[in-house]
Amino acid sequence: MTKARDQYREDVAGRANVEDTPELLAYYDELERFDAGALWTVANKIEPWEPVSSSHPVLWRYQDLRAHVLRSVDLVTPEKAGRRVIYLNNPGRSDVAAAVGWIYAGLQVMHPGEQASAHRHSASAIRFIMEGTGAYTVVDGHKMTLGHNDFVLTPNGTWHEHAVASDGTPCIWQDGLDIPFVNAMEANFYEVHPDLTQAVAYPVDDMTKTWGNPGLTPRDGNWSKGYSPMFKYEWAPTYEALSKLAGCSDGSPFDGILMDYVNPVTNGPVMKTLGASMQMLRPGERTQAHRHTGSYLYHVAKGRGHSVINGKRFDWAEHDIFCVPSWAWHEHANASASEDAVLFCLSDLPVMRAMGLYREQAFGENGGHQPVMP
Ligand SMILES: [Fe+2]
Ligand SMILES: [Fe+2]
Repeated sequence: MTKARDQYREDVAGRANVEDTPELLAYYDELERFDAGALWTVANKIEPWEPVSSSHPVLWRYQDLRAHVLRSVDLVTPEKAGRRVIYLNNPGRSDVAAAVGWIYAGLQVMHPGEQASAHRHSASAIRFIMEGTGAYTVVDGHKMTLGHNDFVLTPNGTWHEHAVASDGTPCIWQDGLDIPFVNAMEANFYEVHPDLTQAVAYPVDDMTKTWGNPGLTPRDGNWSKGYSPMFKYEWAPTYEALSKLAGCSDGSPFDGILMDYVNPVTNGPVMKTLGASMQMLRPGERTQAHRHTGSYLYHVAKGRGHSVINGKRFDWAEHDIFCVPSWAWHEHANASASEDAVLFCLSDLPVMRAMGLYREQAFGENGGHQPVMP
């Protein structure tokens, strides 16, 4: 049966603008029989004038989710669940289980003495510690102890497992992975470790102690893998670095004091597909609006404030998570006149840059703020 095919017509020179006729509709049906189609019926849809994200701007409040995350401890064991995680489901991206764009995120809880089975996959991951003591992650035999606001990498292909020491307290952390992206590339493999656990083969925290010293690198250091050898990035030196930069720089009108986490060997992103940054909004600071390509998942590491995303205001507090979809206008404001606010951000910026797809634009001629919807 024939149906309308001219719904994407645009009356603009250079764009597809073909009116349906009985003859054309019959022709389209013929093509369909051979698994083919006329490009002009879909060209304007598949090549929009600018990026059209199917992700919605969303704020996930920690106070809404925390009790539900803790309840999962009574409902399933890590052994049965594999990973006991409540994932963040963007209403526009449910089909690929993404929090935004091609990035997956979830909140994972683990009790003292619990250990998740060791595994590896093609997806790369970070975990950002929100609460609790005694959490640790083992990556390819390197054990990293993890505290509040620290984050750890588990890069593509590395064996990894997460646990909480028996003398610790219940821990909750945010996972962030490129699962949807790797699935979109149809390149995802998953493997469970044959022993379900791996031996710790090196001194505890050795990779951060070896590679995480500002301005210094080991002379006999040898690292050529496509991800940072500094598996763990700690909160205290990060906050100190932001504070120091804030003391001698005006920062960016769009981002305040923004620093990227880097691979110390290359000065590039921590992993090939996922980038991480931390930004400080000084007391009372309100940034100007801009937009750029790439998907961004923010985690409030410290303080409170709000962001305006495509004209909608989202008020956030510590450990809330919110997303900025690709090409969405956004600006951030610190609600406090005396305390700084700090935002951790996970993004696919390394992919955007590597593929030559990164673009940004300031709002208004001379910078400014978006009108906020009531
Ligand atoms: Fe994993
Ligand atoms: Fe931005």
